[in-house]
Amino acid sequence: MSNHNNTPIFPDSYIGDNSLEYENSIWMERNQKKATLICLQYLHDEELNTLGIVDNLNEKKCLIADLGCGTGFSSEILVENGHRVIGIDILMDMLSKAKIKKKFLKEEKDLELILADINYLPLKRSSIDHMISVSAYNFIIHGKNLAKDIFKTINNTSRYLKKVLKSNGRIIIEFYPKDEEELDSFISSFKDNGFDGFMVKKDPNQKSGQTFLLLKKR
Ligand SMILES: C[S@@+](CC[C@H](N)C(=O)[O-])C[C@H]1O[C@@H](n2cnc3c(N)ncnc32)[C@H](O)[C@@H]1O
Repeated sequence: MSNHNNTPIFPDSYIGDNSLEYENSIWMERNQKKATLICLQYLHDEELNTLGIVDNLNEKKCLIADLGCGTGFSSEILVENGHRVIGIDILMDMLSKAKIKKKFLKEEKDLELILADINYLPLKRSSIDHMISVSAYNFIIHGKNLAKDIFKTINNTSRYLKKVLKSNGRIIIEFYPKDEEELDSFISSFKDNGFDGFMVKKDPNQKSGQTFLLLKKR
């Protein structure tokens, strides 16, 4: 399911037998759920409250888009924490497993699943309270090799995410940028397109590795 560095390869790591292996991996489930709980915590981050228009996030039940929801580990946690969720994934092999998981949720009606590309979300303007993305966002540039294409894709996407979010909407992204340059490009794409925010790294000395972006619509 991964290459020799344990780095997932898109889409190979998430199709056919590899999607089954992903779904059945206890390690993967634990990691995705742990990262999602951290994202939920960051959604209410105090420093984020003080950025831009000062506000204090106190809504209880929010509509959250889970970008790159995979087999639904993250979406499940969001629903169990009292939110309504739209899970979006580009691969049917992954989404079909999330659909099965949905049937076992106590609040089944609170999870909607859509087969779509994060870069072209079929969502209405100002319709979503907040977004999270766990271990998926760096894949939005899959297949783009030229710097200008990468730049165009990430900027168009962050601009569109801003349109879809309600005012004061927040996005928490947990991802694994391949290097400092890629990380800087993603951060700039948000700052240049209407978001305030900052990043948190598990290991601040590490150039790549697990990174959280905490973003708030300006
Ligand atoms: C690590 S997995 C899913 C993690 C998810 N948090 C979970 O709980 O299972 C990453 C997912 O991102 C999805 N993905 C990659 N590029 C995408 C895109 N452009 N649009 C939507 N989903 C995408 C993949 O299909 C894959 O299911």
